[in-house]
Amino acid sequence: MGQDQWTAVDGYVSGLLAPHDEALDAALRAGAEAGLPQIQVSPPQGKLLYLLARTIGAERILEFGTLAGYSTIWLGRALVPGGRLITLEASAEYAEVARASIARAGLGEAVEVRVGPALETLPGLAAEGAGPFDLVFIDADKVHSPEYLAWSLERTRPGGLIVIDNVVRGGTLAEADSEDETIAAQRRLHEQIAAEERLVATTIQTVGAKGYDGFTIALVDSP
Ligand code: SAH
Ligand code: DHB
Ligand code: MG
Repeated sequence: MGQDQWTAVDGYVSGLLAPHDEALDAALRAGAEAGLPQIQVSPPQGKLLYLLARTIGAERILEFGTLAGYSTIWLGRALVPGGRLITLEASAEYAEVARASIARAGLGEAVEVRVGPALETLPGLAAEGAGPFDLVFIDADKVHSPEYLAWSLERTRPGGLIVIDNVVRGGTLAEADSEDETIAAQRRLHEQIAAEERLVATTIQTVGAKGYDGFTIALVDSP
C-alpha cells in the first residue's frame, strides 16, 4: 500500500471517468517539452473542477496559477456558452505555453491568460470591475492563498464556489508550530474561513498520483 497503489487507482479512475482527449494530452506534452514543472492537478481532480463548475452553471471563472493550462482547460470546458475564464500566471514563459494549449483546446476566445504576480494584476482586474465570479480556483504561490481568498470573496456571487488547492501538503497542515511559511499560510487560510460568516467550507485530504495533499471547497453563502 502506498504511492504506487494511489497512482494505480488514479490511473484506473482516469481511464474510465476522466479520459484525456487530444487537447488535454497535448497540453501536458507541451508543458513537459517546455520544461515546466509537472504539478498540474491530476485527471480526477481536473474532472472534479469541471464537475463543480458544471454543477453551478459557471459563467465567470477566475483561476490563480495557470502553469501549462491543464486545469484551465478542464474549467474552461465547463463554462456555459458565452462564459469567460480569466487565469493569472506570474511567468510570461508559462503563459505563452498555456495560451497555445488553450487555443488548441478551442478555448482561445473564452479564456484570457493574464501575466504577472497575482497581487500585482488583481488591482487591474478590480479596476475593470471584473466579476462577480461564479467559481474561483486558487492554485498559485501557496503563501498568498489567504490574500487571494480575501480578494476573491469580495467578488464571488452568493452560491459561488472558491476552491483552494494544496492545503494539506503531506499532512503538515496539522503542525501548529511549523516554521514553514507555506504551512503557516494554509493554517491562516483555515482560520480566516472559520471566522468568515459568508463562507461555508470544508477541507478534504487526498491521496493519488500527486501524493498526499488536499483541497478546500468554500461556498459563498447567501446573505
Ligand atoms: N493550476 C495549474 C497548476 C498551477 S502550479 C494546474 O493544475 O494545471 C502554480 C502556478 O502558479 C505556476 O505556474 C506558477 O508560475 C504560478 N505562480 C507562482 N506565483 C505566482 C503569483 N504570485 N501569481 C500568479 N501565479 C503564480
Ligand atoms: C506544487 C504546486 C501545485 O499547485 C501542486 O498542485 C502541487 C505542487 C508545487 O509548487 O510544488
Ligand atoms: Mg495545485
